[in-house]
Amino acid sequence: MGEKYLAIQQANINQLKKSGIEVLNLGRGNPDLPTFAPVVEKAKTALDNKVNHGYPPYGGKPALKETIKQFYQREYQVALEEDEITVFSGSAAALTALPMALADPSGVVLTPTPAFFGYHIGITMSGAEEWQMPLLERNDYLPELEKIPQAVRERAQMMFLNYPHNPTGAGATHAFFDKAVQFGLDNHIAIVHDFAYADISFEHQAPSFLQSKRAKETGIEIYTLSKTFNMAGWRSAFAVGNASIIKLLKAYIQNSVGGTFGVVQDASQYALETQIEERKQLRDTYLDRRNTVIQLLKTNQLSVSQSSGTFFVWLKLPEKITDDRRFAKSLLNNAHVAVVPGSAFGDAGQGYLRISLVADTATLASGINQLITYLKQYRE
Ligand SMILES: Cc1ncc(COP(=O)(O)O)c(C=O)c1O
Repeated sequence: MGEKYLAIQQANINQLKKSGIEVLNLGRGNPDLPTFAPVVEKAKTALDNKVNHGYPPYGGKPALKETIKQFYQREYQVALEEDEITVFSGSAAALTALPMALADPSGVVLTPTPAFFGYHIGITMSGAEEWQMPLLERNDYLPELEKIPQAVRERAQMMFLNYPHNPTGAGATHAFFDKAVQFGLDNHIAIVHDFAYADISFEHQAPSFLQSKRAKETGIEIYTLSKTFNMAGWRSAFAVGNASIIKLLKAYIQNSVGGTFGVVQDASQYALETQIEERKQLRDTYLDRRNTVIQLLKTNQLSVSQSSGTFFVWLKLPEKITDDRRFAKSLLNNAHVAVVPGSAFGDAGQGYLRISLVADTATLASGINQLITYLKQYRE
């Protein structure tokens, strides 16, 4: 549903641009900055290596898997074995594959709402039922696991989690992940933690799901280089954790999309090993942008979440606005600012807007000022 909304919005933006109107697009989830230069240079060299011209080893090159092991040890103090790691081309493929590998038509998959669009299609194809866990502001956007009915727990086969969270920018705590692991173990539910914004966390390092004791007995974590290394176009991601789930995922990917281009693997290995300062600078850039946006919104008495991570800001619309989609459409057509209405991420997002920080500070400030002006004059 959300994807459909974005496609319609993009067609609308294209139409406006065609008629010469400049649109400030604060709706995208695509990083605006280029991949770090040393990573691009590494890829150029890797292109000359003939080994990379043949089929790559399924599940990842041994050297890349060794680097992932060291990366998780260095960043999160989590020890991994080789059979607890698999590499693939972007996390979207894995998020779609997992419900088909882990759930069946008699089962239930638990998803957060609001949430990233990428979880639904795999669930539909698996035939399982989707049961949505509301993420509410008063609970810091963490699901209330204890409120999941017994009948649902009995049928649940897997659960998606995602922190730092798209679209709210909320973070998880170690205590929450401990609780989720216990819930997974008690109810035999496979937990898949989508760690897409792992590194974009402002107050402290975002916890890894695997840092919780016994996490590997019940789940996996998916890490992508799309956002934290500005490598969205390269399609590079990996999963770590429970060896049985990793084995299933590897088999599924091998028989569908196949292996990941060797050049992408070599560049990813290099990025994970060396780009520590670059990642910090990227985080600081997003922090600067977040502060600019939040300050402007707060100065104008708008209710906005602090956004402890991701490159999104979650704005609560004033009470007088009851239809976030209608408002977003009107904002685009009349004030030429594109944002995504909260309800595009599920029912619990109704009444909010997601503002993306993938534009420079000056563009963000202009977009937010236009949004504030339009909010003052808007009548439903
Ligand atoms: C929460 C979340 N998970 C996964 C993805 C997809 O990442 P990838 O580029 O690795 O497919 C996105 C992309 O927007 C996302 O926001």
